Amino acid sequence: MSDVDTPAHAATAQQVLAAPRAPRCLLVTGGAGFIGSSFVRTRLGDPACAARIVNLDLLTYAGNLENLAGSVEEAERAGRYTFVRGDIRDQALVERLIEQHGVDCVVHFAAESHVDRSIHGPRDFIETNVLGTFAILEAIRSRRATGHDVHLHHVSTDEVFGSLGATGFFVETTAYDPRSPYSASKAASDHLVRAYAHTYGLSTTLSNCSNNYGPYQFPEKLIPLMIANCLEGKALPVYGDGQNVRDWLYVDDHAEAVWLVVTRAAPGTSWNVGGRNEMKNLDLLHELIAVVARQAGKDPAALHGLITFVKDRPGHDRRYAIDCGKIERLLGWAPRHDFAGGLEETVRWTLANRAWIDRVRSGAYREWIDRNYATR
Ligand code: NAD
Ligand code: DAU
Repeated sequence: MSDVDTPAHAATAQQVLAAPRAPRCLLVTGGAGFIGSSFVRTRLGDPACAARIVNLDLLTYAGNLENLAGSVEEAERAGRYTFVRGDIRDQALVERLIEQHGVDCVVHFAAESHVDRSIHGPRDFIETNVLGTFAILEAIRSRRATGHDVHLHHVSTDEVFGSLGATGFFVETTAYDPRSPYSASKAASDHLVRAYAHTYGLSTTLSNCSNNYGPYQFPEKLIPLMIANCLEGKALPVYGDGQNVRDWLYVDDHAEAVWLVVTRAAPGTSWNVGGRNEMKNLDLLHELIAVVARQAGKDPAALHGLITFVKDRPGHDRRYAIDCGKIERLLGWAPRHDFAGGLEETVRWTLANRAWIDRVRSGAYREWIDRNYATR
């Protein structure tokens, strides 16, 4: 943790804000995923943002160019947006992209992101989240040696702080206590980012966010999985007793927070981002069922009948709760969506985009990717 971040709530604007940064070219990693694609869409849709965007994404199972369809084509024709299928672990590629495109800021979303997958197969998490971040840091360090400075914003999670009891909140200075292979891999990457800033003088910022939800979320995560299963009349699997607590934030509000940090925050600072919206999983599901039933014209009692308590996730963290007072106070950030409105919007989007979800659930979305990128 940087000195200027200690303690988080005592930090002054003078300590943690920089002269506004106006990147000319952003290298966005993982820009075809859920949150990365929201960031790309919101940046390209913001008339006040003139930055070019290079989107580097490996298109793993979680990457889907359909997340960007209709939002990037005009910018691509104008030379403002470029997609590159590639691996963040490929340091030479990252270095070449930074050099070729004159990248002055990397916004790093790419990761393996699903906790259950990390429990069943941790290796990909170490390779992508730890070694991938390491390769990006090495690429930036190498460019720096030639006099080309690049700022790195690293997107991380509240899960690095561990699990809370019934009370308390995570602040920026809370000690790290990751408890799943996913959160341990993210914690390792956060440590590497801070170590490179401290040791080699790289310019870095970091954000730790709570649970996101919204359009284009891969339907393995709680909210899109439950919506899809409601629509298909499938079981709604609740882990354990359903009393685990998460703090939910609409994805575009996270994307805006990242942009504020990228453009305003001083090097070496980190920022907690959350929705001030804690909910027990079971309460969330009841609220979601009410919205799906109303919007899709389904019988709420029948949907409640689909709730199935299943074996708990091993090591399941009980409660996450973010104190986002620092970003609210010093960067003036606030979510634009409350949870009720965001949930309505998400269900509405799902009903209007059944083809997207059907193609993801059936695996059809991979055919196009495999056909177009088989040789690259
Ligand atoms: P996601 O799984 O939807 O997307 C990840 C993207 O990264 C995909 O497009 C994938 O193809 C790409 N990718 C994976 N490995 C890669 C590699 N080796 N090289 C290049 N690209 C690769 O993830 P998300 O939910 O959008 O999360 C994005 C970031 O935000 C992650 O770093 C995650 O840890 C963090 N985060 C997520 C949440 C959340 O609720 N989803 C909350 C806080 C922080
Ligand atoms: O807190 C931020 C993190 O939120 C991000 O860093 C992760 O990338 C993101 O995946 C998310 O992690 P969670 O494990 O909290 O999200 P998930 O949607 O998998 O689960 C949310 C809660 O719902 C959790 O308590 C487990 C529970 N759950 C999940 C699924 C998929 C169920 O009860 N049933 C399910 O089928």
